Amino acid sequence: MNNFQFKNPTKILFGKGQIANINQELHPNQKILLLYGGGSIKKNGVYDQVMQALKGYNITEFSGIEANPRYETCLKAINLVKKESIEFILAVGGGSVIDAAKFIAAGVYIETDPWMILSDRAKVKQALPIGTVLTLPATASEMNGNAVITRDATKEKLAFGSPHVYPQFSVLDPETTLSLPARQIANGVVDAFSHVIEQYLTYPADAPLQDRMAEGILLTLIEEGPKTYADPKDYTSRANIMWACTMALNGVIGVGVPQDWATHRIGHELTALFEIDHARTLAIVMPGIFQHKSEQKKHKLLQYASRIWNITEGSEEEIIHQAVDKTIAFFESLGIKTKLKDYDVNPEAINEIAERLAKRNGEIGLGEHQDIHQQDVVKILEYAL
Ligand code: NZQ
Ligand code: ZN
Repeated sequence: MNNFQFKNPTKILFGKGQIANINQELHPNQKILLLYGGGSIKKNGVYDQVMQALKGYNITEFSGIEANPRYETCLKAINLVKKESIEFILAVGGGSVIDAAKFIAAGVYIETDPWMILSDRAKVKQALPIGTVLTLPATASEMNGNAVITRDATKEKLAFGSPHVYPQFSVLDPETTLSLPARQIANGVVDAFSHVIEQYLTYPADAPLQDRMAEGILLTLIEEGPKTYADPKDYTSRANIMWACTMALNGVIGVGVPQDWATHRIGHELTALFEIDHARTLAIVMPGIFQHKSEQKKHKLLQYASRIWNITEGSEEEIIHQAVDKTIAFFESLGIKTKLKDYDVNPEAINEIAERLAKRNGEIGLGEHQDIHQQDVVKILEYAL
């Protein structure tokens, strides 16, 4: 196992009715920005619960954070935060609203252009405190220090991470997810699945506990995902999915082991160029990564095949092939297609994507060995034709 340091400061308030307790986490005199998206929280009663809990608190609202939150919108929120001397940001929504909150919280302190945080030209040295009420289990943004922001003008989708933007607290009430359309439930399950895969399916690092925890999350997603997809009223399966998604990317399973974020990095280009839902881009890319890197990932692919899908018969090549097929079948069982043509993406786009990534990364390749370069990206995406 590799050396590591680990700290996750986010307090979790899990379960029914926990929104009522957020006032215990906030000072009545603090100036709070209530940040939310396109209005789902007004339809499902979450907004009312938050306002009830914060009766008498000093609240300014900013709504309209998009799915795949836009830099341009966040800039408007940053101006409002400065104008109103906001002291705390409460994000209520899915990963997009929470990511926007993190960027706004850090961007307030960047004197020039906050985009520099994303283009790696400015380091986050401080940020306003954040709290969240999560309404969509998927990203684990509610318990990590990462955010992904899209810039419309340049069609760029970039991520940053900082210990300063971990939420101080996050409410995970599975009841808030009962209003989610099946499409978003499926997205959440596949996103979390990919987060686990990218911290697990690399090469052995003598870290059996991280492996077993990762496998526990994968199996939970495989068992509970279809239940919650099929039955929007099943509180128990939603609760299990909610916690599994948080655990998938709150840092615990990734300590001391190699990580491979190539699926996400390629996927972000697909979203930036074609507006494909984040999770769906991962379902397009991941099978190609498995196949293109089957030699380097062989040991872990065989472990994945046996422990997750009970595949043990056949040659190594056949076993890996079956594991890829099982993974694709799982995604498709949740209504998530895995081919580029399913999203009307022309084969010509493959070169453009590979070129954009190569330009951004320079000499450094993607993946756990940093050896996925332009031509590899082409081959990986060709599996999705
Ligand atoms: O905007 P509203 O009206 O709230 O509607 C949202 C949005 O349209 C809706 N929704 C959310 N909760 C709902 C609901 N509808 C009904 N009932 C509810 N309870 O769902 C739609 C999608 O929401 P969004 O927040 O965009 O989804 P998700 O949580 O999947 O977040 C995706 C974003 O997170 C980034 C992605 O790249 C993408 O931009 N990621 C962030 C990560 C992180 N911070 O660690 C890691 C991930 O890998 C990911 O990249
Ligand atoms: Zn993701």
